[in-house]
This record gives sequence, C-alpha cells and structure tokens, in this order.
Amino acid sequence: MEVLSTKTELSDWLEFRKGAPRTLVPTMGALHRGHTSLFDLAGEQGGDVVATIFVNPTQFGPNEDFDDYPRQLEADLARCETHGVSAVFTPPPAEMYEPEPSISIHESKLSTRLCGTSRPGHFDGVCTVVAKLFNLTRPDAAVFGEKDFQQLAVLRRLTRDLNFPIRIIPGPTVRESDGLAMSSRNAFLNEEERGQAPVIQRALSRVAGTIAGGEIVSPDDALQSISEEIESESLSKIDYVKIVDSETLEPLSSFDRAEPRLLAAVFFGKTRLIDNVGLPALNG
Ligand code: PAJ
Repeated sequence: MEVLSTKTELSDWLEFRKGAPRTLVPTMGALHRGHTSLFDLAGEQGGDVVATIFVNPTQFGPNEDFDDYPRQLEADLARCETHGVSAVFTPPPAEMYEPEPSISIHESKLSTRLCGTSRPGHFDGVCTVVAKLFNLTRPDAAVFGEKDFQQLAVLRRLTRDLNFPIRIIPGPTVRESDGLAMSSRNAFLNEEERGQAPVIQRALSRVAGTIAGGEIVSPDDALQSISEEIESESLSKIDYVKIVDSETLEPLSSFDRAEPRLLAAVFFGKTRLIDNVGLPALNG
C-alpha cells in the first residue's frame, strides 16, 4: 500500500497505475468498521482502491469540532492496509487549498434542508473538497456511505450537474450490535448518553416497519410516533425528524412516492448524531 501526501506523489502513482480502473473512498480518518466496509465495497468493483484521509476545514462551521476531530493516522493506515486499499492520499491542508482560494462550489437546493439548516456552508465545503479529490484522483467510481444520506444525495447531484464521469456507489450503514450507527462522534458520548443513543435507529426502524405494513398511512403520524419514542429518552434533544423523497430530499406529504427516507438528527449532550432508514417494503 502506498501512502501519498503530496499532489505530485499522487500523480506519479496514478501515472504508474495507468490503465487500471480505480474506485475512490474519501474519508476524514478516525476509521471504523463503517469506513472499512466502504473499502471492501470499493475492492469488489475490481481494480485499485484509493482512500483519502483529509479532515477538510471548509466543511466545518466556526463553532464545530474541527480542532477536536480525532486524528489517528497510524491506526488508520493499518486499517486501510488490512482492507486492501492500494493507495492512501493524506495531504496536509496546504496541499489541498491555496492560501486564498476564490472559487468554491455552492449547492443551492438539497443543502437548504435537514442538516443544512443547522450547518450553513457545510455541504458547499463537502462539494468543493470532493470535486477537488475527484479531479486529483480521477476515479471511475466513488463510494459514499448511506449513513450520511443527505451528503450522498448532494454528491450525486455534484456528479450529475458538473458532469463528473464517475459512478457513485452507496454503501449500507454499519451499526454497533445495539443498532447505533457507527460514527467517530460516538466517542464523545458519556456512558448514559451512549446507553440512550440507539433509540434513534429503534424509532426510525420501528416506524419504517409500520409504514411498510400499512399501519401508519400519513407522514405526519409517522413523524409524531418517531419523535415521541426518541423524546422518551431523557437526554435526547431532537434537531429534526423528517420523511423525504430520497432523491430530492423534499418532505413528503404522502407515501405514494417511490422512495421515502426517514431521517433524524438528535443531540445527546453536545454530541449531534444522525441516522436514517429506508422503507423495507418499498426499498427491498
Ligand atoms: P467521514 O465522516 O470520514 O466519512 C467517510 C465516509 O464513510 C462517508 O461516505 C460516510 O458516509 C461513510 N460512513 C461513515 N460512517 C459510516 C457507517 N456507520 N456506515 C457506513 N458508512 C459510513 O463524510 C465524510 O467523511 C466527509 O464529508 C468527506 C466525504 C470525506 C468529505 O470531506
């Protein structure tokens, strides 16, 4: 496995691997089984797997956890190696951003909803860095996790609207044994918060099941039922609970549409957790 930290090293390696198809897996490090499942999925595509590890400053708001974001490069590289990654691109910030960049990418629709409301500018930062990583690594395909469902939808749009010739592959959410979606932010939960956090997935899945079974027929009733269950845990504070169209992320007023998605963002203490589920009967 090659570890590349400059654009020149990266382009030399790409030249060396010329002709081999490759799949990109962008990450911010602090790798867990959610990330490594994406490396495995990328490996299944055949060809090279390029992972990137870069804590992207432009996607963090001024009061967010950029400085506290866990950095553990040695352990991350070991995980990459175990999961068949061909090369890891791990640039310092100055290698990715010019001192005063004057061009960035602005997504104007999907980003106005859900997490975009409480994280202004976040998805523009994600689009900008992912477009740069696409240009630098020129992959045939790129894998992103369904865990960050809005990010996946936004990056599909980025690829569509800016004509990147790259196939976007979604990776299913990997969970702890009690259902909590794996996230580097889970480490910030204290014991009591950690004990309560699985309620998010429990409530979303239970209600997805009742919608699929025809017991709940209105999105409003479904939202109320999810919220009540989450609020039954004393330390939870709901940021949002929504049922949206999977592609446009627009709120649904009925379940006639093809692919509804149930999403929630919930604070436990200072830690904000997100999760989402599809409808089993409609999504297979
Ligand atoms: P990061 O949070 O490190 O996540 C990297 C990738 O891992 C994303 O595609 C994310 O959806 C996926 N992922 C995280 N937890 C997962 C889980 N439990 N199961 C499955 N996949 C999971 O997302 C980012 O970094 C950044 O925004 C990035 C796209 C790298 C741009 O900076």
